[in-house]
Amino acid sequence: MLSFQELSADFNKQFETAHFPDSPVSLYAPGEYFLQIGGKRIRPVMCLLGNELFSDIHKDAYQAARAIELFHNFTLVHDDMMDEASLRRGMPTVHTKYDSNTALLVGDVMLIRAYEFLQNIQPTYLPKILKIFNQTAREVCEGQQLDMDFSKMQDVTMDQYIHMITLKTSVLLAASLEIGAIIGGASENNCHHLYEFGKKIGIAFQIQDDYLDAFGNAAEFGKEVGGDIKQNKKTFLLLHALSVANVEQRKELDALIATNNEDKVKKVLAIFNACGVAQWAEDLKAKYMQEAFEHLEVIAVVSARKQPLIDLANYLMNRNK
Ligand code: IPE
Ligand code: IPE
Ligand code: MG
Ligand code: MG
Ligand code: MG
Repeated sequence: MLSFQELSADFNKQFETAHFPDSPVSLYAPGEYFLQIGGKRIRPVMCLLGNELFSDIHKDAYQAARAIELFHNFTLVHDDMMDEASLRRGMPTVHTKYDSNTALLVGDVMLIRAYEFLQNIQPTYLPKILKIFNQTAREVCEGQQLDMDFSKMQDVTMDQYIHMITLKTSVLLAASLEIGAIIGGASENNCHHLYEFGKKIGIAFQIQDDYLDAFGNAAEFGKEVGGDIKQNKKTFLLLHALSVANVEQRKELDALIATNNEDKVKKVLAIFNACGVAQWAEDLKAKYMQEAFEHLEVIAVVSARKQPLIDLANYLMNRNK
């Protein structure tokens, strides 16, 4: 069995090759640019780990992994336009380096390319995989729309936040694992628990992402720190601060949300700190990790096979980028 780091190195090597034809350069060079600036590539690795949990890795798992990473990059290119983000992976985003029309098409063509890789998968389980992939893709769109809607809403509950991040982020992690598991010949019950494991890990993953967006080190995180605050994103940080703030802090937060002054990020961060959001983040992540591991435990394979997944989950929760 390979560790998640070994699988990651394996996948990265395969993913280094060109993804698109040469022409038109104005479309495909920006696409290659974005794919070669890296990223953690955790979703394809999850797909391979899902397969490896049950049997030796089949070559189809690499096709699915590639499709999943392309799909993920499509969502990022469009997400950066929606979030007006100028930096990703420490580099200019596609719409900033090129323009928005290019970024739209780069995203579209990545999505199409994803389906071309799925097409290479054996017909025995392709319909099952397509069904999960399509459902997940639709859910990601729903989550992204809720994320945009919430930034304009005043009262968003913690449950609504969890629902939104489940859709925009965690279902893709869950689906990556399950697709791998299907290729690995897993039973339906095992697939179900692995999917639920991925969903809980995914929620904790987005909690960490939201935390880093406020408190991360920009050089390491590779994205603009404070971007969510500027965009009035209803992250758990803001929701928690709003729920525990005293009258004065609440008034200040409301006023800050209504403006976009230069010192907005600094002032919001000060209130976040005063409201103890860092500890809240740790508790929230721990709760979802715990729930995730309960699902992993009941999967009917010997526990040694689960170690790479446990290692990956721990790495994701403690990451700085
Ligand atoms: C970013 O995902 C989008 C979220 C769901 C938070 P990653 O943090 O996996 O991004 P890359 O691919 O490693 O850059
Ligand atoms: C993005 O959430 C989720 C998707 C791209 C589907 P974020 O907007 O928080 O992701 P980052 O922080 O830009 O990577
Ligand atoms: Mg974003
Ligand atoms: Mg976003
Ligand atoms: Mg984010």
